[in-house]
Amino acid sequence: MAFTEPVLLKRISDDPSKRHTVWYDEYVATGGYAQLRRALEMSADDIIKIVMESGLRGRGGAGFSAGQKWSFIPKEKKGPHYLAVNADESEPGTFKDRYLMDYDPHGMLEGIAIAAKATQCDAAYIFIRGEYHKSAKILEKALAEAYEKGVFGQQGMFGSGYKLECYVHRGAGAYICGEETGLLEALEGKRGWPRNKPPFPAIAGAFGKPTVINNVETLQCIPFILERGPAWFKSMGTPSSPGPKLYGMSGHVNRPGVYENELGITLQQSIDMAGGMKGGKHKGTICGGISMGVLGPDQLDIKLDFDDVRFRGGCLGLGTAGMIVMNEHTDMVKALRNCVRFYAHESCGQCTPCREGSGWMKKILDRIVDGMGRAKDLEMLMELEKTMGIMPGTTICGLADGTAWATRTFINKYYEEFAAKCPEAIEATVPVKISRGR
Ligand code: NAI
Ligand code: SF4
Repeated sequence: MAFTEPVLLKRISDDPSKRHTVWYDEYVATGGYAQLRRALEMSADDIIKIVMESGLRGRGGAGFSAGQKWSFIPKEKKGPHYLAVNADESEPGTFKDRYLMDYDPHGMLEGIAIAAKATQCDAAYIFIRGEYHKSAKILEKALAEAYEKGVFGQQGMFGSGYKLECYVHRGAGAYICGEETGLLEALEGKRGWPRNKPPFPAIAGAFGKPTVINNVETLQCIPFILERGPAWFKSMGTPSSPGPKLYGMSGHVNRPGVYENELGITLQQSIDMAGGMKGGKHKGTICGGISMGVLGPDQLDIKLDFDDVRFRGGCLGLGTAGMIVMNEHTDMVKALRNCVRFYAHESCGQCTPCREGSGWMKKILDRIVDGMGRAKDLEMLMELEKTMGIMPGTTICGLADGTAWATRTFINKYYEEFAAKCPEAIEATVPVKISRGR
């Protein structure tokens, strides 16, 4: 473990009064675009090898090896290749990519140019969340600067033979467009419905062509990996989850915000980084967005990396490391209802277990929150979550898994609290109320 100073946030001041967007000239004056110039002299294979050696895992949530993903793109080009940047940051509690785009947009643009060079892309699309109006405007301005300075466009990148076009594409506000194939559909002008995989986007992505899809923070890591080397990257984090990481801290902490540290710090350390607990003792933390589930009061020693959160923490994974911290006064039944309401609203409706399951879960939780919980409601919730989250292949994308993991971890870890709201007596006397629409 050797995290000494912020890297991804090195150009962004801690002090909100000094924080500003770093435009092209300042970016270059602080070492920006030097690695792109180096990359233009390197072969695609060499760039991929360095990224592979670094062990960089995707920062969008799934933690898939970035170098490996790039290596899936066919070496022999039979038509255009595309890069799609997943900037559709919609996971509740996640706001780290917005921070990067707002204050250091050229960091991502340099990462895009290097990634595109390594995978022989002809065009890059930055698919940005529809609600991120300010960030989209900043990106458009930064992109215009980069075009003017010769990074993008048909004149060739910094006068080299490699040409790349880059576009900002605004989403229309649907969570599901953050799912990579939903994103591709939306990019093609269609309804953002996830596609069945395989084929994976690396083989048949945007417009049916090989497409690399990377998250904003993942791309932001690339210039630093080229500059400092894989060994430097691996000197931080854990052997299977190396490198620096942004943590988005929100909820009951004294100083919410985006922090940088290495992967593998403990949950307690992340809370300390954000100024400690606010308003009471720790009760639980939704880690990495609500689809990952919740870490309980006795899990403050869990390491925030791609493995420990899953194997010891009992969650789906680290996800985006957008942590929603909850103190002892939080009503966990209401918290889960809030999560499930979100999923029921955002389900695209293609798959029955997700469309119906999330709707039914929400109705049951509404009933429990309204004081009309029945003993068998918990059983029904657990049965629904099993149908949605354990049986493989019943849904097209991971949204159903997310709903299931949130439900499973909340009920398992706060069973007494749920049970107290589902007494047997109510079942006999109060009629079932399932009248709310979705
Ligand atoms: P996944 O594990 O199915 O795939 C991860 C990546 O690896 C994808 O790009 C996929 O195309 C690629 N991949 C996997 N196997 C492959 C193969 N055999 N060949 C080629 N490529 C392959 O995960 P998924 O469904 O893409 O992402 C789920 C994650 O997204 C969740 O863990 C969640 O944390 C995160 N998420 C993030 C959000 C945000 O706002 N940042 C919103 C919602 C979810
Ligand atoms: Fe749509 Fe849900 Fe199926 Fe995903 S799992 S494709 S969100 S219905």
